[in-house]
Amino acid sequence: MTASTDGSLRRAVNIEDLRVLARKRLPRFVFDFVDGGAEDELTLRHNRDAFERLRFRPRVMRDVSQRDASTLILGLPAALPVIIGPVTLAGYCARHGDLAMARAATAAGLPFVLPTPSSAAIADVAREAPGRLWFQAYVFAERAVTDTLIDRAAAAGYETLVITCDFPVAGKRERDWRSGLLPKQQFTLPTLLDVFLHPRWIATVMTARPEFVNVQQALGPGRPAGPFVAQKMFDPALTWDDLGRFRERWKGRLLLKGVLRADDAERAVALGADGVVLSNHGGRQLDGAISAIDALPEVARAIGGRASIIVDGGVRRGADIARAVALGAEAVIVGRAALYGLAAGGEPGVRHALALLADEFDRVLALTGSASVADLGPDLLMT
Ligand SMILES: Cc1cc2nc3c(=O)[nH]c(=O)nc-3n(C[C@H](O)[C@H](O)[C@H](O)COP(=O)(O)O)c2cc1C
Repeated sequence: MTASTDGSLRRAVNIEDLRVLARKRLPRFVFDFVDGGAEDELTLRHNRDAFERLRFRPRVMRDVSQRDASTLILGLPAALPVIIGPVTLAGYCARHGDLAMARAATAAGLPFVLPTPSSAAIADVAREAPGRLWFQAYVFAERAVTDTLIDRAAAAGYETLVITCDFPVAGKRERDWRSGLLPKQQFTLPTLLDVFLHPRWIATVMTARPEFVNVQQALGPGRPAGPFVAQKMFDPALTWDDLGRFRERWKGRLLLKGVLRADDAERAVALGADGVVLSNHGGRQLDGAISAIDALPEVARAIGGRASIIVDGGVRRGADIARAVALGAEAVIVGRAALYGLAAGGEPGVRHALALLADEFDRVLALTGSASVADLGPDLLMT
């Protein structure tokens, strides 16, 4: 971290400021991968609109001089109802980016979800950032690869397994098609020229040689992980039977991520999931899908009180955390909010992003007449 990075971080007063810094620091193809969504980015934009249209009906005169933002997520304590979510290519946003995210989450007292395609090894993260670690599994057509990964996560003491189910095929991310990152990593000339205009990124990030280490270790030598991840990571044949199988294999807590309907949420819980992550994958998969926050009321009616409901997509403000909790979510996942911080300033940047969200959330507690997370309920919102 240079003095100038430090100064500009301090001047970032919200997540959007961090996004602007991230755009300056990253080569365009990396920024577009992080920032972009599928096709017309309708769902990406709707994720923000859906939060913004939920307005508060604040209560007054309730002594909010002592406030407590802490909560339980899956029955265990967290400093805020926030989780840093699984995001591929964190290792391209900052040097050892996955570790930086994990350390920042642990320091802030929040759970961290390590994605299958991370560039930090499952065991290394457990050693470097001992805290509430969750592992996100993509289900490979070659089930043995996924089994190996989740057994490793269990051996390293990960608390929760998150199975992502909204990826039978990759969404059509047109920004990435234009840069050449997808579908085959055949970069265009403008993309390559732009990379060379970012010498600091090359010197700091690329010299750490980010690779899909977990997948590589599971595949063994002679089978390069890059093409495997690009072409075979996701199995469109995934079914509910697989969830039952994972439930038997994994003894810890288990969540299904990518659910957007009450009937699917009920089915996941009936098969032994401890809860669901309502998610449209940050608008990166089905363009035109509803937002998690739209699905939340119906899912809360169906499984609220007997399973955990976590929401993600578009969380950029402390107020969004409060909106989700008020409607029945146990916590939110942040993806890009943390990644923008990471790209803006490494681990201190992620810490800064989390501190901004924590400060805003605390203010919303006070301004809605809530002394604690338990005071947030649906009557606080005009829906
Ligand atoms: C750059 C990027 C990479 C992602 N990679 C994964 C992944 O590997 N596994 C996964 O389950 N979700 C992945 N997601 C989705 C996030 O976990 C999360 O659902 C989403 O980012 C939430 O929306 P937000 O970015 O608006 O907070 C990714 C999202 C982004 C932005």
